[in-house]
Formats: sequence, structure tokens, C-alpha cells
Amino acid sequence: MKKKIIITIDGWSSCGKSTLAKQLAKMLGYVYIDSGAMYRAITLFFLRNHTDWTDPKEVKAALKQIELHFEYNEKSQQSEIMLNDENVEYVIRDLVIAEKVSDIAAISEVRKFAVAQQQRMGKKKGIVMDGRDIGTTVFPDAELKIFMTADIATRVERRFKEMFEKNPNITIEDVKSNLEMRDYIDSNREVSPLRKAEDAILLDNTNITMKEQLDYALKLYNERCGK
Ligand code: DC
Repeated sequence: MKKKIIITIDGWSSCGKSTLAKQLAKMLGYVYIDSGAMYRAITLFFLRNHTDWTDPKEVKAALKQIELHFEYNEKSQQSEIMLNDENVEYVIRDLVIAEKVSDIAAISEVRKFAVAQQQRMGKKKGIVMDGRDIGTTVFPDAELKIFMTADIATRVERRFKEMFEKNPNITIEDVKSNLEMRDYIDSNREVSPLRKAEDAILLDNTNITMKEQLDYALKLYNERCGK
């Protein structure tokens, strides 16, 4: 049996990290973890509970009331995030959450809370985790690190199509300004900013198909684990 490894996929917002991570996990029989879902679920909790996230005491107290885990859903065939036993996988995709999540993910207490759980999930290896700081902070020793990018127009178009299906009132401008704002905050925050790890492989998928991108990632995996 092949040894199990940790695969990290970081990169800019909406460049297809989760699509690739899910496909890879399925092909390899690995567990897929969406680390962004954890920051989104924390954001949902703060918004619902009117937590003043500029007050470190309130943030600490709120985090104590949060339990996050993933549960596999047979119907959607993916693991979905549970916030205090409530499935919030779909509500956290709303633009209201996307507008606040980068501010909340920049809080060091929030990151400590999420990173500790992510590291526990990787103990047995055999996982693909996507996010912003997975190859740099969460699993700096991961065996395969991919850093994804795509040009901004392509990313906006992809995300717009996805969000428009659920919310026809959304405009291209809403999506573009949200992506630009998140990219800015995520890459300029003090704690674990979005960066390509030195040993990460850059994957620009602006002009390649999903199949080509998956084949490329599988090639990288095989190089590390042998065919
Ligand atoms: O991957 P996503 O768009 O669902 O992530 C939502 C936000 O969470 C993203 O804008 C930044 C933050 N995030 C983070 O700071 N670190 C991670 N490892 C994953 C996400």
C-alpha cells in the first residue's frame, strides 16, 4: 500500500482550489478538508450572536461556545461543516458571510483556534486541505504543496456564475469587489498572510481545463509517492 501523505492547496479566492482538492481526494481515497468553511462558520456564529470581534474578550468567549466538525453527507457525497451540530455548509456561502470573513480570519485568536483543529485533522495523513496558509503555517512539512492562481477576470466570472444560480440579484461588480477585497486582506494581514510556500508548485489554471489541472496534480502526487 502506498504511504499516505498530506496535500495542501492554497491560493487566491475563487481560483478553483476546492474543485481540485475534492477531485484529488476522491481519486486518492483521501479526506478533503475545506479550511475556509471553518472561518466562514465562525463568521456566521459571530454575526448571529452580535459578537463584537474588535473586542478580544468577546472573541475569546465566543470561540469557547463554538464546536466545529465535518460530517460526510451521502447525498452530496462530500463532507460538510457542522457548527454546534447544525449543518451550515450552504448558508456560509452567502455574500453576507463573504463580506466579513476575511476580517474575522485575520484575528489571531480565531486563527489559533482553527489551525489547532486543522492540525489535529492531519494527524493520520491521507488528507487534502485547501485554504490560504495550509502549506505555510498549518502543514509546513506537507509532502505535496500546490499554490493556485488564475487571472482576476476568470476568477470573477467563475464565482459570479456560481453565486448567480443561488442569488439572481447579485452583480458582477459585487463579486469582483468582494474578491479583490478578500485577496487584499488575506495577503496583507499580520498573522499567516496568504503566501506561496517556497516549496509549493505554482498552478495557474486560467487557460487549462479541470481535467488538465487534475492530471497535473496527479502527476505531482505520483512523483512523490511512486506510481
Ligand atoms: O476558501 P474560502 O473562500 O471559503 O475562504 C473564506 C475566507 O477564509 C478567505 O477569504 C480567507 C479565510 N481563510 C483563511 O484565512 N485561511 C484559510 N486557511 C482558509 C480561509
